[in-house]
Amino acid sequence: MGCPGAGKGTQSAKLVDTYHLKHISTGDVLRGEIASGSELGKQIAGIINQGNLVPDEMMISMLEKIVSTTDKDIIFDGFPRTVAQAEVLDEMMQRLGRNIDRVIMITLPESEVVGRISSRRQCQKCGEILHVGPEASGNVCPVCGGELYTRPDDTPERVKHRLEVYHQDTLPVKNYYAGTGKYVEINGNQTPDQVFEDMQQYILEKVK
Ligand code: AP5
Ligand code: MG
Repeated sequence: MGCPGAGKGTQSAKLVDTYHLKHISTGDVLRGEIASGSELGKQIAGIINQGNLVPDEMMISMLEKIVSTTDKDIIFDGFPRTVAQAEVLDEMMQRLGRNIDRVIMITLPESEVVGRISSRRQCQKCGEILHVGPEASGNVCPVCGGELYTRPDDTPERVKHRLEVYHQDTLPVKNYYAGTGKYVEINGNQTPDQVFEDMQQYILEKVK
């Protein structure tokens, strides 16, 4: 969990490399549906490009299809995002014979959010997340040579709206998990490697 730009995608990629997890980013799932050109994708684009959340039922049915077809341990990135989604996730995991082991909240001061997101580019092909300076030129992914793009919901106005939605709908999820013994907050306002080091410490502590 974490606000827009907190580093969920960046840290998920590191967790996947180290622990060989299945990464499910609900934002990426939705953007994939948009890229497919389907009717559902067109409907989704109208919602997420404005910085709003897609309806819980739509998100949950898309997610269950993916969860039920993997045996790997999973890192959810950007899900659950409402208390209703958290409740359904509990029920779904129980039904599929799985557990939620840890809930990690990456914190970031709001003053950092717009700057970080304005500097983000993502690869169309491999999904690599890059931080580029204002002087950046070219739109070629250094990892795979794919085309880099800026997300339509990454304008400063949309980011501000996404933060409002985050406060209203997603922050209450914190209370849902606080007190379960699974919840931890990690300071996201450090270098990506330092954030990852803190995350690993938490993960190792929990499995001791
Ligand atoms: P989603 O794609 O999940 O967007 P988000 O939550 O707004 O978060 P971001 O992806 O913008 O940020 P991030 O935390 O992944 O940061 P990143 O690692 O890229 O969702 C998009 C939309 O889809 C939502 O608004 C909603 O409409 C819909 N949606 C998604 N899930 C949904 C759900 N469950 N239910 C309903 N609707 C849903 O890093 C950001 C930048 O910072 C990068 O440039 C990166 O290089 C840089 N960076 C990362 N870490 C650091 C660091 N430690 N120091 C300096 N720079 C850093
Ligand atoms: Mg992300």
